[in-house]
Amino acid sequence: MTVVKSTVDLDWENLGFSYLKTDYRYVSYWKNGEWDAGALSTENTVTISEGSPALHYGQSCFEGMKAYRTKDGDIQLFRPEENAKRMAKSCERLMMPAFPVDKFVEAVKEVVAANEAWVPPYGTGSTLYIRPYMIGIGDNIGVRPASEYLFSVFVMPVGAYFKGGLVPTNFIISDFDRAAPHGTGAIKVGGNYAASLMPGALAKQRHFSDCIYLDPATHTKIEEVGSANFFGITHDNEFVTPSSPSILPSITKYSLLYLAEHYLGMKVAERDVYLNRLDEFSEAGACGTAAVISPIGGIQTNEDFHVFYSETEVGPVTEKLYATLTAIQFGDLPAPEGWVVKVTA
Ligand code: PLP
Ligand code: COI
Repeated sequence: MTVVKSTVDLDWENLGFSYLKTDYRYVSYWKNGEWDAGALSTENTVTISEGSPALHYGQSCFEGMKAYRTKDGDIQLFRPEENAKRMAKSCERLMMPAFPVDKFVEAVKEVVAANEAWVPPYGTGSTLYIRPYMIGIGDNIGVRPASEYLFSVFVMPVGAYFKGGLVPTNFIISDFDRAAPHGTGAIKVGGNYAASLMPGALAKQRHFSDCIYLDPATHTKIEEVGSANFFGITHDNEFVTPSSPSILPSITKYSLLYLAEHYLGMKVAERDVYLNRLDEFSEAGACGTAAVISPIGGIQTNEDFHVFYSETEVGPVTEKLYATLTAIQFGDLPAPEGWVVKVTA
């Protein structure tokens, strides 16, 4: 397809996190045991069989990543192979055919380059959100894996996910679980998010940003903060993040573990975070591609409301972590080997 670059004029500083139709998406179909060549498309709707397993049995998975505009006007991706590898794990668990890692990264680059005009300017704080997904399609009715698959990548410019960006917001502990102890919590499948809709809505009804999920087996340990991972900073400056087989292994979280240790000289640990020991932390936050780093002001439990650093001010360590991570993502600080992949528009 001949790519026609559009010009786009948006209020880049004030974008929320909402769907916006951009010019091109990548589409590839799997049939008779192989992926087709894949191509860009200008069509933002999908027509599939009413029997598609994605529609009835949740055979669907996705990824979330971003493209960043640097000061020089270049465009770069942050650790895209990690998203490709995580998606392959999601596919394996749902009996879907993985999309090859190198082809995944090439598809992402191609879509971002074709939608170059939609990549927010450097300095606006906004980025191009990238959503790869795969669904099981084709005529079917029994509970079995699909006979055909669609892999697609679409993009849109976004601003802050939680209101206010680097401003603390409050969260509430959910009595519901998003995943089971030996279920699908560690992969990025649609069903986990369907299960999170009601707990999330209940939290928002009570004016919290989102809910926090506890470990599904004992309900004593923190697992996830809505669609983001949790981290806390102890009083002796250790970066701590929960360890559990039902947490989504956040690429942002693993990046922060590395940066905290190697760029900021902190001690780091992945271990249990007990709800009744929140006072071990002087700061806490949520981290993820969409959330970036979002400071947690306080957490409402069934017993009380626990404030970490402040309900209105970001803590100094959280601020330093945010500055380091985003400086690497936007190309202002040298990245560890292999973390940044340039897109040539
Ligand atoms: N946890 C959940 C449930 C998520 O949906 C996400 C978003 O992808 C994350 C954590 C953060 O992961 P990442 O940093 O790889 O975006
Ligand atoms: C992300 O951080 O990329 C997510 O997938 C979170 C959410 C929008 C589902």
